[in-house]
Amino acid sequence: MGIADLSAIITEIAEEMRFAEVRGKVADYIPPLASVPHTKFGIAVVMADGSLHTAGDAEEPFSIQSISKVFALTLALGAVGDQVWKRVGREPSGSAFNSIVQLETEQGIPRNPFINAGAIVVCDVLLGRLEPREAIGQLLRFVRELAGDDSIAIDETVAWAEQETGFRNFALANYMRAFGNIHGPVERVLGVYFHFCALAMSCRQLALAGRFLMDGGRVGAHRVVTERRSRRINALMMSCGHYDNSGDFAFRIGLPGKSGVGGGILAVAPGVASIAVWSPGLNPSGNSHLGQLALERLVQKTGWSVF
Ligand code: DON
Repeated sequence: MGIADLSAIITEIAEEMRFAEVRGKVADYIPPLASVPHTKFGIAVVMADGSLHTAGDAEEPFSIQSISKVFALTLALGAVGDQVWKRVGREPSGSAFNSIVQLETEQGIPRNPFINAGAIVVCDVLLGRLEPREAIGQLLRFVRELAGDDSIAIDETVAWAEQETGFRNFALANYMRAFGNIHGPVERVLGVYFHFCALAMSCRQLALAGRFLMDGGRVGAHRVVTERRSRRINALMMSCGHYDNSGDFAFRIGLPGKSGVGGGILAVAPGVASIAVWSPGLNPSGNSHLGQLALERLVQKTGWSVF
């Protein structure tokens, strides 16, 4: 497919999404997210040859929320390697992103690193070696470097709101601490987790940050993770990246993807493209309704599904 074709395809998708009537429901359990207009839609595609294509609100920063779990996992694997898997599993949960139920019968070991409980453990792993301030700084530097953009920042208003309203996350962390699977003080671990979720990025920045997963762990000549690790992170995104909606995402779109309740999705067509979409209205599982629809259109028109 030529570059002109791809630009035409995503412009057409953005137009369709602009006029879509069913747009999902904007998350309101984190107060600052509730005020984001549901009319927003952005898409950015970075191809393996480095070309970048955008349409809609692709330059507007939004709260990446759980998409940060991909970058946090990558850092934790870099810090302690496969030791991570002693404390968090690699299976889809089939439950809501903030569910506590499986922790009771599974000894406080979360099913995977992309549900809230799993990401909280990942933050605790990072804190085994760092102070909270250092861990937050490390993640921020990491995504800035991946995207090649120093303007990426954490939205402190969102981080603070999560601290104030994150009762379920406090419950999850305390519950896992009771099982011995959170080692540090819960307030410190969650302080890091909330700041990770509060990262604000545009579709363009996010698609650029996802390049290492498109390109076997590399960004150009720079190796970020091994090829094997990149493949494994992609596998987890495919199986667990959309919570209890992951099977349907694989069925409809067929790409590794990770969503967040801010309405963003990072999707990877290995060897081909890194894609970010954003539309704040969510489906009942907490995934962007139009973001998924836009990705479905994109893979239909390009044939990028891995299947
Ligand atoms: O902890 C939370 O509930 C949010 N900061 C993140 C949840 C999230 O993004 C789930 N995604 N779809």
